[in-house]
Amino acid sequence: MDLKSLIRDIPDFPKPGILFRDITTLLRDAQGLKYTIDLFTQKCVDAGMTADFVVGMESRGFIFGTPLAYQLGAGFIPVRKKGKLPAEIYAIEYALEYGTDTLEVHQDALQPGSRVLIADDLIATGGTAAATAELIQKVGCELVGFAFIIELQELQGRKKLPDLPIVTLLEY
Ligand code: PRP
Ligand code: ADE
Repeated sequence: MDLKSLIRDIPDFPKPGILFRDITTLLRDAQGLKYTIDLFTQKCVDAGMTADFVVGMESRGFIFGTPLAYQLGAGFIPVRKKGKLPAEIYAIEYALEYGTDTLEVHQDALQPGSRVLIADDLIATGGTAAATAELIQKVGCELVGFAFIIELQELQGRKKLPDLPIVTLLEY
């Protein structure tokens, strides 16, 4: 299936100069959605990524991370933007392709020794995934790898990540 044909390119969003890769057109396509989740899962299995938990970043990481966790037989842990989580949190500041933000995770969601896979829709500069990895490793979890639907290769985000397996479905 030609998944790239289901992704819509929007120039100059959310800022001039950014070519936004819009996954909502993929999500609304029933066959495309099923194919994407099944392939995402298969690639993670093939890469040897067995995990206790999938960690997904707000908000598009929730969309792909939760069905991935379900298919892998893992739990899902949300990493959220500042001020959204109700219990005690760990926080980390990070840089985006278009701004800065803070990510937070519940302290009691992460236990030392848990095997964790980080999943998101897209890696651009790598700031979001690198910050999430730092948050997870700081509490003694074992990071098993990263999974992204889309990689924007020219931004070289993977260079910011620890040396672990990285699964991607589509490269631009
Ligand atoms: C987007 C995307 C990734 C991140 C990638 O999320 O879903 O999480 O940017 O960029 P990076 O590799 O340069 O860090 P965004 O923060 O725009 O939030 P959203 O998912 O709520 O749209
Ligand atoms: N997140 C960061 N950069 C992005 C882009 N170019 N398209 C979609 N999501 C993004």
